[in-house]
Amino acid sequence: MDGARGAIVAAAIATPGSDVPRRGADLAAIERPGAVGVAWRDGVVTFVGPADDLPGDVGEPAGSPDRGTLVPGFVDCHTHLPFVGWRADEFEARLAGRSYADLHGEEGGIFRSARMLAESGDDEVLAFSERLASDMLATGTTTIELKTGYGLSVDGELRQARLARALAGRVRQTCRVTLLACHAVPRGVERSAWVTAVCDDLIPAAAGEDLVDQVDVYVERIAFDLDDLTRVAGAAAAAGLPLRVHADQLTDVGATSTAVRLGARSVDHLNHCNVEGVAALANAGSTAAVLLPASTFFLRGAAPPVAALRDAEVPIAIATDLNPGTSPVASMPEAIAIACAAYGLTPLDALTAATRNAAWVLGVDRGTLAVGSPADLLLLDVPSFAHVPYRPGRNPVAATIVGGELTVGDPSAVVG
Ligand code: NIG
Ligand code: FE
Repeated sequence: MDGARGAIVAAAIATPGSDVPRRGADLAAIERPGAVGVAWRDGVVTFVGPADDLPGDVGEPAGSPDRGTLVPGFVDCHTHLPFVGWRADEFEARLAGRSYADLHGEEGGIFRSARMLAESGDDEVLAFSERLASDMLATGTTTIELKTGYGLSVDGELRQARLARALAGRVRQTCRVTLLACHAVPRGVERSAWVTAVCDDLIPAAAGEDLVDQVDVYVERIAFDLDDLTRVAGAAAAAGLPLRVHADQLTDVGATSTAVRLGARSVDHLNHCNVEGVAALANAGSTAAVLLPASTFFLRGAAPPVAALRDAEVPIAIATDLNPGTSPVASMPEAIAIACAAYGLTPLDALTAATRNAAWVLGVDRGTLAVGSPADLLLLDVPSFAHVPYRPGRNPVAATIVGGELTVGDPSAVVG
C-alpha cells in the first residue's frame, strides 16, 4: 500500500451518510454485509463499492473480502490534550466519598493539572501527550480535538495553545484546537476580571496568532456562570470562532438553553440538562449534543436525557473527554461501548455520533466513507459494528489508515 494509491477489502462496511449534522432516524450509520472495497488516491477516496468492482489500477488490495468491517476513522471531538500527569489518587478519593467539587476547591482537580503543566517543560508535555495520541491512533482515532484550560493565566493559556499546535504537527491525526480559558477561575483573580482578560486580551491574541479554532466555556457552579458565558460568546463571535460549552455536567445551571440561544456549535456533557434545554436544542437544530459517557462512568454521574435528545432529532456526537480528572480514557471504542450500554444508543447511532457528527462539531469534512472524502478509515476485526460495543475492553482496530497511509496495524491479521 503506497501513500499515493491504495485499496482495501473487507467482508462488510458501515458508514454514516454525508449530509451533516445527522439526526433522528438518519443518525444510524448504514451497514452493508458482503465483500466490499475502498480505494483512494493522494489521500482521497476514489471508490467505495463491491470488492469485485474495484478499479483495476489499484494493485493488490490489502485485507480479505471474507473478514472484517470497514468504517471511517473515529473523530474524538472533545479531549483535554495536551496535558501532563495523572490524578489516580483523586479517583480513589472520590470512591472513598469525596466529591469532584470538593477536590477542586482544595487545589486539586483542574488546579492540580495546571500546576503539573506549569512545572513541566514543553518537551515533557509533548512527549506525554504524543504517547496518548499514538494510543488513540491504535484504537482508531484519526481526528482529535485539543483544548487549553490548564494554563490559568493569559501567558499560560497561550503557551498551552502553542503546545497544542506543536502536538498537532507531531501526530498523524488531523487536529483542531479549542481555547478553554474559562475552565477554572485562577486563584487571586476576580472571576469577572478573568473573563474580561479572556475576552479583551486572550481571545483576540489567540485568534490573531491563529492558535485556536474554537472557544469553549465551563459553565458550572464551581466555574463560570451564564453572564460569563454570554460575554465569552460575544468575544468568540467577534473573533470569528465557533462556541462550544461544557454544559450542565455536575448540576443543572440552565447552560444548555443559554448556549443554544448564543448559537453554540455544541453543548457537551449534559448530565443535568433540563427539559427546556432539550426543547431549545430541538428547536434550534443547529447545536450538537456531545455525549461524554466515559466521564459520566468515572464520576459515577447521572446519564443525560439521551432518548429525549434522539427523539427530538438533536444531532448527537460522542467523544472521550480524555483528561486526567474525569475521564482517563483515550479509546473511542470504549466511549462507544459505554454510550451503548449505559446511555442506550444503538451501535450504528453511536458510529455516526463518533464519526460524521463529531467531525461536524469540529468543522472538518470527515467521518464518512464516500468518493471525495479523506481516506481516513479503519479495518475492524469484527463481523459487524455491533461487536465493538458488545466486547468492551478489546481493541477491535486491525488497521488505521490516515490520508491513505497505513499507520498502525496489519490488515492481513483480521479473523473476525
Ligand atoms: O470535561 N469539567 C470540566 N472539565 C473536565 C475535567 C477537567 C479536569 O478535571 O481536569 C471535564 O470533565
Ligand atoms: Fe471536558
